[in-house]
Amino acid sequence: MADRKHIIAGNWKMHKTQAETRSFVQGLIAGLQVTEAGCEVIIAPPFTSVPAAVQEARGTSIQVSGQDLHWEDNGAFTGEVSGPMLAEAGCSHVIVGHSERRQYFGESDETVNLKLKAAMRAGLVPIFCLGETLDERQQGRTFSVVKHQLRDGMKDVGIPDAARFVIAYEPVWAIGTGQTATPEQAQEIHEFLRNELAALCGTKIGDDVRILYGGSVKPENARSLMSRKDIDGGLVGGASLKLDDFIGIIRQDM
Ligand code: PGA
Repeated sequence: MADRKHIIAGNWKMHKTQAETRSFVQGLIAGLQVTEAGCEVIIAPPFTSVPAAVQEARGTSIQVSGQDLHWEDNGAFTGEVSGPMLAEAGCSHVIVGHSERRQYFGESDETVNLKLKAAMRAGLVPIFCLGETLDERQQGRTFSVVKHQLRDGMKDVGIPDAARFVIAYEPVWAIGTGQTATPEQAQEIHEFLRNELAALCGTKIGDDVRILYGGSVKPENARSLMSRKDIDGGLVGGASLKLDDFIGIIRQDM
């Protein structure tokens, strides 16, 4: 089995000013010997707080991610931010296709595909989110939904690029609801996604790509989820806003 280094990523969504970001990152550095962390630690602040996060995290192993990007590198797209802009600001990663983007901002598998390719062009590691809604799960469509999201998102992505992807399986019904997928439910989908990835890009990429779980991850459930064979860490929303909870989750994954 491949030795995949785990990732704990905090998706702050539309939370935390620059001042709040600075004090959080200082607290994270003080509270956790990040060098001691066995996993990669990533935070994804809102765009305006990215420079503050990058500055505070300098010299540590904490990495900073954008929460979204436009598929063009520049142009007349009011309100948007591009991959090269995030990279210049110091981001190493960018979240693509989060269910809130899909639900509220018209993100489709096609725009997700364009954004994944834009992230690769900019040298960013995409954290590619996918997952089924409650309706889709109840209709027994989970496997076909995530398979199509994966295939459509990865369309025309070359093999060397695919090796750099991080995938986040986030069942929509578990996001912000307090209702976590059981470790068994999550492992089943992660294994399925890994097999699909292997079918698309070869077994080496299938083995190496990290697949994170997201949806109501907290310190209490982190260990049971992340000890599963194909669960390589977590994309954490609500609990990543509270320093103690975020550190607690990182510790559980050590
Ligand atoms: P949650 O969010 O941890 O608050 O459920 C996860 C996410 O949206 O990435």
